[in-house]
Amino acid sequence: MKLGCCYYPEHWPEEIWAEDARQMAEMGLSLVRIGEFAWSRIEPEPGRYDWAWLDRAIETLAAAGLQVILGTPTATPPKWLVDRMPDMIAVGADGRPRGFGSRRHYCFSHEGYRKECRRIVTALAERYGEHPAIVMWQTDNEYGCHDTVLSFSEAAAARFREWCAVRYGDVAALNTAWGNVFWSMEYRSFAEVDPPNLTVTEANPAHWLDYRRFASDEVASFNRDQVEILRAHSAGRPITHNFMGFFTEFNHHDVGRDLDVVTWDSYPLGFLEQFWFSDEEKRDYLRQGHPDIAAFHHDLYRGCSNGRWGVMEQQPGPVNWARFNPAPLPGMVALWTLEAMAHGAEFTSYFRWRQAPFAQEQMHAGLLCPDSSEAEAADEVRAATATMAQIGEQATEQASVALVFSYEAAWVCGIQPQGQSFRYLELVYEWYSALRRQGLNVDIVPESQHLVGYRAIFVPSLPIMRADFVEHLAELDCPVLIGPRSGSKTHTFSIPEGLAPGALRQILPITVERVESLRDGVAENGDGFAIARWIEQVASDLVPEVALLDGRGVVYRNHNLRYCAGWPDRALLDRLLKCMAGEAGIDLIPLPKGLRIRRTATHLFAFNYSAQPVRFDLSGEVIDPAGVSITALVS
Ligand code: GAL
Repeated sequence: MKLGCCYYPEHWPEEIWAEDARQMAEMGLSLVRIGEFAWSRIEPEPGRYDWAWLDRAIETLAAAGLQVILGTPTATPPKWLVDRMPDMIAVGADGRPRGFGSRRHYCFSHEGYRKECRRIVTALAERYGEHPAIVMWQTDNEYGCHDTVLSFSEAAAARFREWCAVRYGDVAALNTAWGNVFWSMEYRSFAEVDPPNLTVTEANPAHWLDYRRFASDEVASFNRDQVEILRAHSAGRPITHNFMGFFTEFNHHDVGRDLDVVTWDSYPLGFLEQFWFSDEEKRDYLRQGHPDIAAFHHDLYRGCSNGRWGVMEQQPGPVNWARFNPAPLPGMVALWTLEAMAHGAEFTSYFRWRQAPFAQEQMHAGLLCPDSSEAEAADEVRAATATMAQIGEQATEQASVALVFSYEAAWVCGIQPQGQSFRYLELVYEWYSALRRQGLNVDIVPESQHLVGYRAIFVPSLPIMRADFVEHLAELDCPVLIGPRSGSKTHTFSIPEGLAPGALRQILPITVERVESLRDGVAENGDGFAIARWIEQVASDLVPEVALLDGRGVVYRNHNLRYCAGWPDRALLDRLLKCMAGEAGIDLIPLPKGLRIRRTATHLFAFNYSAQPVRFDLSGEVIDPAGVSITALVS
């Protein structure tokens, strides 16, 4: 695995570039990502390009032996462009246009802006496409960051109407599919269809789902525009885009298919603070991040890639954007780096080289402080480099278990949560954590993936279950666990004929007759476990395998397939996992709190995420807080 950093030569006097480059190489870095926000310097005025500084920056980095990942600058359209084309601005759900003065203010659907993007990307690719120092391209930066996938602009409305027309052919079909007879929402033509914002109360969920699908397609086609240009001018150089953490607003499997390398931006401490974790977890893992955050995304994004993936931005110290921004425990930056390697990353690049003394991110740490002295992370990068050199390249193998992840499932649950604590991503993460606490390697895969070869399969929830997925499940003979709400909606967001779980009923003869969501703090008890948040009443001739104390069935099993009719707690998940592992002959390694392991083809890695030393029974070692133990596997 290579190491790199994100660098902004345009932020610093040219006199220090060469020293920066020398120091990067000395620290063990070999990659530098540049350029992704530099439009106002590349094209200071319409049509007047200034390449000279960028030429020199690339030359300086190359002279130090560094390889460059060049970003297209389309996440930051300059002021002159916005002023020339004010309707390229994205419009929020509140109907208000976004302002200039930060970034990501564009609307994915604006044809004029897309044309400008094609122009600047072409100019950049023509100039640097064959440059020997350019080894990779990054399109744009973090699609969707700052809540920018959905836009409700005129441009978006117009393209949404076209999208609907292509999909439904005639408007009567759309009316029927969405159920628009309800509340007299019927349209007479596609021209009458608007985006689903600004309605008095909730808009039709079918309308929202299609708007989300449309918006996701817009991100994918926006990206594809750039990919095609870069491929044409820079043959052989892989193209990437940097995805975000805990982010489901567009279908990353779709965008990933157009990329050569999938990358993501890893900020474990910020994510712990900003997402659903309990106060106890936020306290216990304050300076480490929850032990599954980084691993979850490594596995998720590996599953969005063709096998090539990496970390484009790795947190090196406190960030500036979470509610609270603690510093990582000494050792964590090295731990995160080695963990990415253990999951198969081809590189990890730190964000950023030097902390900026000005503008929005002046409180965001880098590998250097604003005065160029080294920050804490610098030595950890050196330490990680040394460890990596010792153990050599790591190969990833197919995991024993697969977890099925669906962006559409996230949209369905978000559009119609039915209970405010039913959060799809959290459910998936809990199932993933349960697998990891038992020492398993996990592949997180799309439902479209062939699942043959896995020894157990977990589908936390899949509300829209297509017939071909059910057919595929029917062919498998390994244990499969399917979670609540699966098969509960049709493709156009209605309740399926014959009720949930829809098409799944062909192979799992159960009917969900009623669902309940439960407020926080309320649970239904079973023997040694509880169901909270969500519980379904199931009718079936099958005798439940697991039931509540009052006899209501919770888990139904037909041969290798199990359905869990509620939101399982840890105890129930552990119990089901044990049964399935037993049936599949999978060895579980129950791990102490805060410890996680990962097996590569040649090594066993153990990561201590807790703030205390932890004993790892398998190796007999006591691992320090933020420590990593690496054992060569005897083949
Ligand atoms: C990322 C973004 C970077 C920087 C970083 C700060 O979301 O891609 O440009 O803003 O966060 O943590």
